[in-house]
Amino acid sequence: MTDTAEIDTLDRLIARYGGRVPRYTSYPTAVQFSAAVDAADYHQWLAALGRADGAISVYIHVPFCAQLCWYCGCHTKVVNSHAPISDYVADLLAEIDLVADALSERLAIGLVHFGGGTPNMLSPDELTAILDRLAERFDLANEADIAVEVDPRVLSRDWIAAAAHAGVNRASLGVQDFCPDVQAAINRTQPYELVAHAVEALRGAGIESINLDLMSGLPRQSLGSVEATIGETLSLAPDRLSLFGYAHVPWLKPHQKLIADADLPDARARLVMQRRAAELFEAAGFQRLGLDHFARPEDGLAGAAAEQHMRRNFQGYTTDAANVLLGFGASAIGRLPQAYVQNAADVAQWRAQIEAGGLPVTRGIALGPSDLFRAEIIERLMCDFHVDLADVAARHGRAPANLVRERAMLAEMEADGLVTVAKSVVHVTPEGRDFVRSVCAVFDRYLDRDGLRHAQGV
Ligand SMILES: C[S@@+](CC[C@H](N)C(=O)[O-])C[C@H]1O[C@@H](n2cnc3c(N)ncnc32)[C@H](O)[C@@H]1O
Ligand code: SF4
Repeated sequence: MTDTAEIDTLDRLIARYGGRVPRYTSYPTAVQFSAAVDAADYHQWLAALGRADGAISVYIHVPFCAQLCWYCGCHTKVVNSHAPISDYVADLLAEIDLVADALSERLAIGLVHFGGGTPNMLSPDELTAILDRLAERFDLANEADIAVEVDPRVLSRDWIAAAAHAGVNRASLGVQDFCPDVQAAINRTQPYELVAHAVEALRGAGIESINLDLMSGLPRQSLGSVEATIGETLSLAPDRLSLFGYAHVPWLKPHQKLIADADLPDARARLVMQRRAAELFEAAGFQRLGLDHFARPEDGLAGAAAEQHMRRNFQGYTTDAANVLLGFGASAIGRLPQAYVQNAADVAQWRAQIEAGGLPVTRGIALGPSDLFRAEIIERLMCDFHVDLADVAARHGRAPANLVRERAMLAEMEADGLVTVAKSVVHVTPEGRDFVRSVCAVFDRYLDRDGLRHAQGV
């Protein structure tokens, strides 16, 4: 970027809209969850579910890693032996039974997502045992989408073979950055060849759909290092890519203090890197989807985006249209028609509740009509970059004219070139895409109280 006027505009937009805002993987966000929702509520809501709610999705959380990446914002713990993982799996199987016992009908599963932490810390037998238990207690279709987040540094051929045999058909690999200097600054040494072998082995075993996670805003990243990383990433021919902006929240994740502030690129440098990355991915034939995803045009996610069916959930952007998500494992979040629910984040507490025969949900939020209305506006903005407020209001039996405060805030954003508003239709402009979280924040009725607890907006 050389044009001074362009830099001035960017700096002005960052100053106004680059403040701390949620990533809106849900609305209300997890910051709003409280003990007002508990295991008894969850029990009641599970009992009310039926096959008429459609195929459900399942999220399994595996909170273990071999080594701590200093930027990590996930709920995980480093373990040096396998015993804690085996113990965890025993309780996970018990949790699947407890949830299945609480249901009134046997439900069908359309999608399973293993996240973490590092799900490939599970042994091949443990991974298979979890999927077998799901298949025992639910209808798990042969064609179900089974996705696993994978750390290529701890990926073995045996594990890949077991995963492919158990029906895993998508893998999402953590890459972040290929530059050795950046890798040293984040405590994650991972040469290109290691990732290339992992991708080749996964595809060779029949796990065809490969997503690579990259990050921008990491310490010691520069435009040059990001360009080099993207060149190497493209040579691996992924189907999908995520480019997550580093959420630096050391007040929540104290280990992030190991990253020197002086090594972090500033907001303008981050934005310039993100825009350059998007340019390079698009030039290579990827479609930019939502805030931070890219996919080949023939990939299902690109198709869903084109038809405005793409969804957003805790795993990011997805084709998953299920109304119900059941979460298993410590800290896992579930979504029911009535509420978000979250399991105890602490493994010992999660375990104690299961071993006492109770569901391990400890927090959540019941969704009122205003939450559901605002959630749909925010999700459409995050996914489609436009929303017809009158259409959404009609679906929720509400009057769009009530959004007076929101319209005044949008008028300011319109003057700054981030959105256009024509009657009830809000469009995020190409310039505004990087600030879409701030556009969504206009509709967030909880933000005033908690705005400072999130990472910066760009
Ligand atoms: C559970 S990890 C992926 C699997 C495996 N643990 C690994 O890292 O290879 C999920 C992804 O979240 C992203 N991530 C982790 N911490 C983050 C943070 N503080 N800000 C933004 N993205 C983050 C990384 O891109 C990471 O690959
Ligand atoms: S980024 Fe992945 S491997 Fe690194 S600590 Fe976090 S969950 Fe573990």
